[in-house]
Amino acid sequence: MADILTLSDSPDRAAQWAHLLPQLELLVQGESDRTANLANLAAALRQAFGFFWIGFYLARPDGSLVLGPFQGTIACTRIPPGRGVCGAALVQRRTLVVPDVERFPGHIACSSASKSEVVVPFFTAEGAPLGVLDADSDRLDGFCAADVAGLERVARLAAGCCAAA
Ligand code: SME
Repeated sequence: MADILTLSDSPDRAAQWAHLLPQLELLVQGESDRTANLANLAAALRQAFGFFWIGFYLARPDGSLVLGPFQGTIACTRIPPGRGVCGAALVQRRTLVVPDVERFPGHIACSSASKSEVVVPFFTAEGAPLGVLDADSDRLDGFCAADVAGLERVARLAAGCCAAA
C-alpha cells in the first residue's frame, strides 16, 4: 500500500476525486482486514476533503446498522432497521443525497452541526447488505455531483474490502 496520500491542487472537484480514487484502490490492495481498510478509507477521505463526518455503518443480520470506522465527532452506535438516512438508504438500496437534514423525516441527528448528508449503501455481489458509507457536511447542500459519484466509487471499494474479510 501507499503510505502517503497526495492531494490534487486542481480547483475542480471531479479532478480532485480522479486524483484520489486510484490511491484509495492502492491503499486497500494487499490488506485483507476489513477494519483496517475501512479505517484508512475514512481517514483518506477526511484528509482529502475535510468532511465534517465520514465513515461506515455495518449491516447486522437483523437489518440494523452498527457504527464502523469513521472520522469526526462521536456518533450514534446503533441504527434500527430502516431508520434515519442510513437505514433508509440501505432499505431503498440506493444513494440518498439530503441537502438539508432538517427536511428529511426521521433523520437521526448525531451532531447538531451536521446540515447535509450523503449515504451510499453497499452490498455483496449476491446483493446482501454489507453497510453504508455516510458523509456529513456542516453546510447546507454541502455535496456536489462529483462528491456523490466519488463516494459511490468508495462504497464499491468498501464492499470489496468487506467481501474479502
Ligand atoms: N444522520 C444519520 C445518522 C448517522 S450520523 O450522521 C453520523 C442518519 O440519519 O441515519
